[in-house]
Amino acid sequence: MELFDLTGKVAVVTGSSKGIGKAIAERLADHGAKVVISSRKAEPCEQVANAINDKHGDTRAIAIPANIASKEDLQRLVDDTRATWGQIDILVCNAATNPYAGPMSGIADEQFNKILQNNVVSNHWLIQMVAPEMVARNDGAILVISSIGGLRGNAVIGAYNISKAADMQLVRNLAVEYGPHNVRVNCIAPGLIKTDFARYLWETPEILKTVTDPAPLKRIGLPDEIAGSAVYLCSPASSYVTGQTLVVDGGMTIAW
Ligand SMILES: NC(=O)c1ccc[n+]([C@@H]2O[C@H](COP(=O)([O-])OP(=O)(O)OC[C@H]3O[C@@H](n4cnc5c(N)ncnc54)[C@H](OP(=O)(O)O)[C@@H]3O)[C@@H](O)[C@H]2O)c1
Repeated sequence: MELFDLTGKVAVVTGSSKGIGKAIAERLADHGAKVVISSRKAEPCEQVANAINDKHGDTRAIAIPANIASKEDLQRLVDDTRATWGQIDILVCNAATNPYAGPMSGIADEQFNKILQNNVVSNHWLIQMVAPEMVARNDGAILVISSIGGLRGNAVIGAYNISKAADMQLVRNLAVEYGPHNVRVNCIAPGLIKTDFARYLWETPEILKTVTDPAPLKRIGLPDEIAGSAVYLCSPASSYVTGQTLVVDGGMTIAW
């Protein structure tokens, strides 16, 4: 068995027009997978898919825009992927939302609901749509991108952290449910990664210092540094791993 070989596998990666999702999609494609690039905007998805196809000299990436907040969009993402490539072997629920920074006492109901909808319920929807075919084939890998925020209390991004903790529980539950059918469900919990999503954090020197000072590796991460763990969790190399959350944070959460 080639441990990291994904040849012939079809992977859907939400939020893959930039940042962590793009790096994951690129690396899955490097390892042989056909990848679906998806986000709300069509053009950036097309650009990422074209660059992957140009690099490999074949058509192993397609773009299917979808807003994870819309069940109809997610169903179309699944249907169009199946119409093109027949099946989905790997699902990466990466896209997420954080429209609020501040104490829980100040969050509006709409903001809290949006966070829970996009970061938890939408993952559940997409998995609900894709898991049955994986169960039927007795083969599949599902990956949810959580956050180390889900392991910590925080007075500023508390609602987001609740959603990311829920993702960790979601994969534990689904790992139990789907394990007998050889469908594995895991999370990655990144630390601070240099993407647009976290730009405010790493562009504010005081915040950057509080993150990097205690971290053993003394720096924040790059999107591609999440991609290796994603390839691992989606490939035969992790065939006995399920229900887990792999922390990829430069050691930040283990340091005193
Ligand atoms: N960066 C960090 O420090 C960090 C740390 C821990 C966890 N994470 C997690 O990592 C994941 C990816 O974040 P990132 O840092 O890579 O963010 P990013 O660079 O801002 O990329 C986010 C991606 O998601 C898409 N997206 C946003 N809202 C969407 C929606 N409603 N429907 C569909 N696609 C949507 C964006 O494209 P469009 O705008 O075109 O839709 C983009 O492709 C998230 O789950 C985040 O919580 C990030």
